[in-house]
Amino acid sequence: MAHGRDWQRDVLRELGGTPVSEADRTAARLVRSEPPAEHHDPPPESAPSTQPVHRGVRNPRTPMPTPESVPTVDPRLALALGNPQHGDSVTRRTGQALRKLTASVGQEVADQTRLAQELQQPVTTGRVIAVTSIRGGVGKTTMSALLGRTFNHYRHDPVLTLEADAALGTLPVRMGAESVRWSCSDLAHILSPDMQLTDITGYLVPVVDGGWLLPASQGRVGAPLDIRTYRTVTLALRRYFAVTVVDCETLPGEVARTAMDTAHARVVVAPMTAEGVNGTRVVLDWLAQLPHSALATAVVALTAHSPDATLDVKAASAHLRETGVPVIALPYDRHLAQGGPIHTAMLGQATRDAAIRLAAEAMHRAVRVR
Ligand SMILES: Nc1ncnc2c1ncn2[C@@H]1O[C@H](COP(=O)(O)OP(=O)(O)OP(=O)(O)O)[C@@H](O)[C@H]1O
Ligand SMILES: [Mg+2]
Repeated sequence: MAHGRDWQRDVLRELGGTPVSEADRTAARLVRSEPPAEHHDPPPESAPSTQPVHRGVRNPRTPMPTPESVPTVDPRLALALGNPQHGDSVTRRTGQALRKLTASVGQEVADQTRLAQELQQPVTTGRVIAVTSIRGGVGKTTMSALLGRTFNHYRHDPVLTLEADAALGTLPVRMGAESVRWSCSDLAHILSPDMQLTDITGYLVPVVDGGWLLPASQGRVGAPLDIRTYRTVTLALRRYFAVTVVDCETLPGEVARTAMDTAHARVVVAPMTAEGVNGTRVVLDWLAQLPHSALATAVVALTAHSPDATLDVKAASAHLRETGVPVIALPYDRHLAQGGPIHTAMLGQATRDAAIRLAAEAMHRAVRVR
């Protein structure tokens, strides 16, 4: 890892005033993805040290009853998911393997090193990257899941993927969570400034590949997420997580607008259609009017939902780039189109490359652009 600083230790020191301690070691174990046995439960006070330790009553105003754990997909439906298929066909994978054998690796290694450095750069306070779009169903959640996993793969400090979708979101399913218990609204009541990272992670869902997930709801129709809850939770959690990827609702929903306005970087997902690109240009023009260089911290993900998309990617990208925003095309991927949990190893090569480039562009803006 390229960090000069140990984020985990800094957070714990800032919070507890303690040097390297059992808390640091427990946190380090958690960050290495050794999830607690009952990861959705609030950490019991008598928990052994391998579990997140809830040090006393952190917030006396919240004697909250523990919500029940709810499966993200009805078990009867889970059986119908079928086997995950690879994003690339066998022929394409064979071709890629052959090309790798014959290609010059010098430039490729240099590019990968540059992207890794961008993704691993140290942060002094947690960075928030919001993902949204002008239309529903264009790939926000898919993009958020890809970004969350990419950051987590490259970084050794804690990464959170947060669902800020006021409707019934799909992020927990895409991130491979089998069940959810605590939601954003619950955390808004529970969080208190003296909590430590190890207390917080007891309320989050550990992601299969590492990192953490906070759902917006338990997948039921209920009170939607509001601006106040969003602000409370993101402000508090920024202290613990180096990067928070926020899966927003569609614009111009008020939570999405707040998230876009307050994030350090924004990813706008545009479908690869003429009307999608046109609408996204309108959003970019709106971002240009926001304070805090909103446009300078935006990246567009141009996403293909169909293998039959005919829109000229170069022309569409050029239209969006006129605003000065970088555009990265996320190709159609059979594995992503399949729905259900995203398995990183099953993604097509071009999808993985695009996710890495998008994450690097977003991180660059979240850290450097003021
Ligand atoms: N690159 C891709 N290749 C193939 N299919 C994709 C791709 N990206 C997204 N999809 C598919 O598009 C559909 C919508 O994706 P997703 O749920 O991420 O969109 P969304 O913008 O979050 O939707 P909503 O507005 O309902 O929250 C899903 O079925 C997903 O599998
Ligand atoms: Mg979504």
